[in-house]
Amino acid sequence: MGLGLPDGGHLTHGYYTAKKKITASSIYFQSFPYRVDPATGIIDYPQLETNANLFKPRLVVCGGSAYPRDWDYGRLRKIADAQGAYLLSDMAHISGLVAAGEQSSPFEHCDVVTTTTHKTLRGPRAGLIFFRKDKEADLEARVNAAVFPACQGGPHNNTIAGIAVALKQAADPAFKAYAKQVRANAAAMAQVLFKHGYRLQTDGTENHLILWDLRPIGLTGSKVEKICDAAHITLNKNAVAGDTSALVPGGVRIGASALTSRSMVEADVEPCESRKTLPMFRSYLLAPIPSSCLPTSSVLSPSSASPSNAPSESRRVPAPSRADLPSHQKEAGSKKLADFVKAYEQGTGEAPKLIKELKEDVMKFATSFPLPGVLDTSSIKRPEGVNV
Ligand SMILES: Cc1ncc(COP(=O)(O)O)c(C=O)c1O
Repeated sequence: MGLGLPDGGHLTHGYYTAKKKITASSIYFQSFPYRVDPATGIIDYPQLETNANLFKPRLVVCGGSAYPRDWDYGRLRKIADAQGAYLLSDMAHISGLVAAGEQSSPFEHCDVVTTTTHKTLRGPRAGLIFFRKDKEADLEARVNAAVFPACQGGPHNNTIAGIAVALKQAADPAFKAYAKQVRANAAAMAQVLFKHGYRLQTDGTENHLILWDLRPIGLTGSKVEKICDAAHITLNKNAVAGDTSALVPGGVRIGASALTSRSMVEADVEPCESRKTLPMFRSYLLAPIPSSCLPTSSVLSPSSASPSNAPSESRRVPAPSRADLPSHQKEAGSKKLADFVKAYEQGTGEAPKLIKELKEDVMKFATSFPLPGVLDTSSIKRPEGVNV
């Protein structure tokens, strides 16, 4: 059992649809998802327990790709133990935060912990598997054999060296400060969206990402992803709890890790005319919403973050009237993604102008920060013939 893909889980935790088993983990194994509570966006632990009683899993997987909250490993351990199941944490997204002590550690409760090394851990594209040596005599041999010779051929020594460097960096106090800042920046981004009356899944964040629920403003994740691509902002469309179609996801997932590596701090996120600010939070993407519609938000500050701090406020963000939708959507003339793209690529209205302005803002903003190893980005010369 793993967190379902549309609920923020990862494909590899066993995704299937009514018509098709999608991932190898659902083809070779019998998988069954658990879900988030659609009202809060938080994992529905009671329902997971009920379903585990029926399904009798051999393995409970925790970890997600788009889950903005921390994990209650103690509770998951109890659920797994009641079924005699293994508990595996795939901490791929949050392993840098775990290493820095900025998220709960899965190691105390889980039998196996896996991670990719190229997300918040900031290493090369690779993976690590940890297993308990005190669990069963053969767990070590079985995990090792499952890697080699079952799946892998020769070792990639260059990548192993890269992982070693990443782990050395993660052990440095500077990495702890970085991870803290990642969370503070994610919380600051959430705060800005709340101030504008927007809805976030789980009403906030405890880690490095936010999941922006776009449904109240009548835009899809695909449309906002397209606008952002056109303006050099990298984020992705993502399902939000209650979406009926995985093909038309209702939100976008925004991470804070990369910009934090460029030295971004909270003040750079807050909209303020007199200061440089994260351009995606300027007026184009944030159409005004009447203050009467503003929700009472509960963005957790990093210091107060814990699973028990799950938000309790009501999620009352009424859908804005049509007049409040971004003008771009109106210019598209239809709800189709192709028309939306056409409106800014070929249209004669405001959309192309607004996208151009946003793109210029993004470039100004991005080049105002150092790159790791390049303190003055203005010294970077674009090769001839490369246009953006
Ligand atoms: C939870 C989780 N596990 C595993 C992976 C696999 O990572 P990749 O496809 O980058 O190798 C991802 C990637 O998004 C993930 O989010």
